[in-house]
Amino acid sequence: MENNISIEKSKTTKIQDVDFNNLSFGSVYTDHMLVCDYKNGAWETPKIIPYGNLSLDPASKIFHYGQSIFEGMKAYKDEAGKIFLFRPTDNHARLNKSAERLAMPSIPESHFMEGLETLLKLEKDWIPTTAGSSLYIRPFMFATGVGFHASPADAYKLIIACAPSGAYFSGKVKVLIEQTYSRAANGGVGYAKAGGNYAGQFYPTKLAAEKGYQQIIWTDDNTHEYIEEAGAMNVFVRINDTLMTAPTNDRILDGITRKSILKIAEDEGIQTEVRKIKVSELVDAANNGSLKEIFGAGTAAVISPLAGFGFDGKDYDLPELEAPFSARLKKRITDIQYNRAEDKFGWRHEV
Ligand code: PLP
Ligand code: COI
Repeated sequence: MENNISIEKSKTTKIQDVDFNNLSFGSVYTDHMLVCDYKNGAWETPKIIPYGNLSLDPASKIFHYGQSIFEGMKAYKDEAGKIFLFRPTDNHARLNKSAERLAMPSIPESHFMEGLETLLKLEKDWIPTTAGSSLYIRPFMFATGVGFHASPADAYKLIIACAPSGAYFSGKVKVLIEQTYSRAANGGVGYAKAGGNYAGQFYPTKLAAEKGYQQIIWTDDNTHEYIEEAGAMNVFVRINDTLMTAPTNDRILDGITRKSILKIAEDEGIQTEVRKIKVSELVDAANNGSLKEIFGAGTAAVISPLAGFGFDGKDYDLPELEAPFSARLKKRITDIQYNRAEDKFGWRHEV
């Protein structure tokens, strides 16, 4: 695509109202957003317009049949003010994988990448430089085509919005290993980043929160015997000195952080295993002291060590290690993301 993206600049800016030293996650939005419409079987040229409300027909199929998918990415600024994305074409590829599963149109890489880069150049002052902060990027696509007929819409909107953000979790993170509810089913949409996958988690997560757990570790829907992933991140477990994570399948999101961590861990000489992990194995390991760490990995979560987990009415605390794998791996991945270290895997993308 020739870069003929139009830019309508906002007449005002909200940037002076933002406390960049105290950023929460995803709650203030930059001055502009990218919008791209799909109509008559084709994507139009993306436009950048002031961030603001949308006007939608109440019969838009997003409201009735939930055709809605999204991605989560971050832009990082280094000390020299250069801007970087982390493996952005993987997010684009996953957006299209989600689109295919939800019977939505795929978006050309050129629309996505050129649109995103143009938006980031315009919003560069919004990319925080305070430690642990970044510009969270939320590309999302939903059905604008109308009709109460339960079939795919004929029109869609892609939007990319950005939010300067700090850490996703605050305080100690404890998780509940779920035994009743399921996030995803065999042959379902669990591997897609579909809005409905998150809506379906809210009720069980609310019940877990009432018991003091911030997230759920989902287990397989068939037996509830194997751990899969958490609500907003993939899960890694360290037993003795082996780091393991569940294999991806059609119920689990194929996380970009997860696959990057596996590569970095191998590079660090850490023994890794990608295999099914039984809940009973975790409980045994917690009881005999060989369970050293559990951490979540995701774009928003980065690497979030867990303080403990609950299962079957009992709480299991995790030890506080002096040099956990989580800290070592977090340093490696964030050093690459913020351009503080060599990018030996070629993951950084300068904007
Ligand atoms: N699993 C779920 C359910 C998620 O929402 C996320 C976040 O995107 C992840 C895993 C981690 O994926 P990634 O590392 O690509 O952000
Ligand atoms: C991300 O990590 O980017 C996600 O999309 C997770 C989301 C639930 C905040």
